[in-house]
Amino acid sequence: MSKVPDIKVEPPGPEAKKAVAKDDEWLVKATKSWPLVFKKAEGSVIEDVDGNKYIDFYAGVGVLNVGARHPKVVAAVKDQLDKYTHVAGTDFYCKLQNEVAERLAKSVPGDNKKMVFFSNTGSESYESAIKIAKSATKKQVIMDFLGAFHGRTTGSMSMTASKWVQREGYTATLMPGVYHVPYAYCYRCMYNLKYPSCNLHCVTAIEEIYFENQIPPNDLAAISMEVVQGEGGYVVPPKEFVKGVFNLTRKHKCLLIDDEVQSGMGRTGKMWAFEHFDIVPDIICSAKSLGGGLPLGATIVDAKLAFDRYGRHSNTFGGASLSHAASIATLDVIKEEKLLERGTKLGAEAKKRLQEMQEKYEIIGDTRGLGMMLAHEFVQDRKTKKHASKSRDKITELAFKKGVMLLPCGRSVVRYIPPLNIPEEQLDTGFDIVEECIKIVNKDRAD
Ligand SMILES: Cc1ncc(COP(=O)(O)O)c(C=O)c1O
Repeated sequence: MSKVPDIKVEPPGPEAKKAVAKDDEWLVKATKSWPLVFKKAEGSVIEDVDGNKYIDFYAGVGVLNVGARHPKVVAAVKDQLDKYTHVAGTDFYCKLQNEVAERLAKSVPGDNKKMVFFSNTGSESYESAIKIAKSATKKQVIMDFLGAFHGRTTGSMSMTASKWVQREGYTATLMPGVYHVPYAYCYRCMYNLKYPSCNLHCVTAIEEIYFENQIPPNDLAAISMEVVQGEGGYVVPPKEFVKGVFNLTRKHKCLLIDDEVQSGMGRTGKMWAFEHFDIVPDIICSAKSLGGGLPLGATIVDAKLAFDRYGRHSNTFGGASLSHAASIATLDVIKEEKLLERGTKLGAEAKKRLQEMQEKYEIIGDTRGLGMMLAHEFVQDRKTKKHASKSRDKITELAFKKGVMLLPCGRSVVRYIPPLNIPEEQLDTGFDIVEECIKIVNKDRAD
């Protein structure tokens, strides 16, 4: 195997700079991170247009749990390309989407039969969840948590509460009937309490404060959550928090929507992150890694909640054939390569390593994660916990220049999400480089 990382010219190199300039000229501003311009990607290695090779620690923003261009995924897509590429799967029929639907429905534990609605993206899978919840319960209020992220389309953005830059200028016209309450972000408890002596005040507060004063529980169609918050900062709540929220939905006869767009498809060492918390949600949103690199979203619902007639909801590309072929291959790879077991094992070892870094470098305030969904939160001072956002950005920039692709989240968090089948050697080298960068910035802070 060729050497990785391999930085031949400091990125962005001359070819990358040209592509970035064109992008600035013709593309509407979105959410750019670093000036990485792709030439090729294979497994956990990305090559840029100047010949630099990087280790992938961001998995295409959580899309490539089985790595880039997995040979089985590529073969399945090529094979499908020779048959048909489009059927408008919501209007017509094809066996591919039946197979993905059956496999997804059966991947959810419990006795209740599940059914699936296909779309193209995470936002769309979440929008579908909202429509299904409102239609099934005939209620229109949804409660979610501060720090939540579900997308940037109007409905999903209304349910998102992680960064105001997405909402600014739209706030008065967002979807009504939405409430956000504090999440169990124990490192930064919004009630200034400590787990477990807090007795899960964040759960009791929902009943005793929010349901008493503001949110009529009888109006609730659903409580929505990411059981592990992603964009909000890779926040893993205590198990009792998730169970407590689930119990509230049973008590008040509303649904639990679990957005697993980022945490699902084996990322946490289980197929779905909710399996760590001994609950089964009523509606599960999936996307990102579901299509193995091709766009695919799915909303998995308790069969009792599914639309009762045709025409209530649909789309054009939701049954996209190439994406479904890729998805079947991806589900096969997760099983055949035992990626849940691998993610659990490598994730535990990596987390230990990240905790050891925390012991050495004051700038690391917290280490957290489940399976291979791992993160460090950076602080200016461990007592005040003031966010070290600029230092965090410096760490990710240094890592990019040294050949490891990282992605930030939250206000001062770096997520570590390599493909689940990354070779151990690349994983170790990647963390060696991450540590080098943290060491430098720990000494020479940017905040
Ligand atoms: C939990 C979660 N839900 C929804 C989305 C939106 O997905 P997409 O960007 O595919 O619309 C994301 C994207 O990061 C996400 O992390």
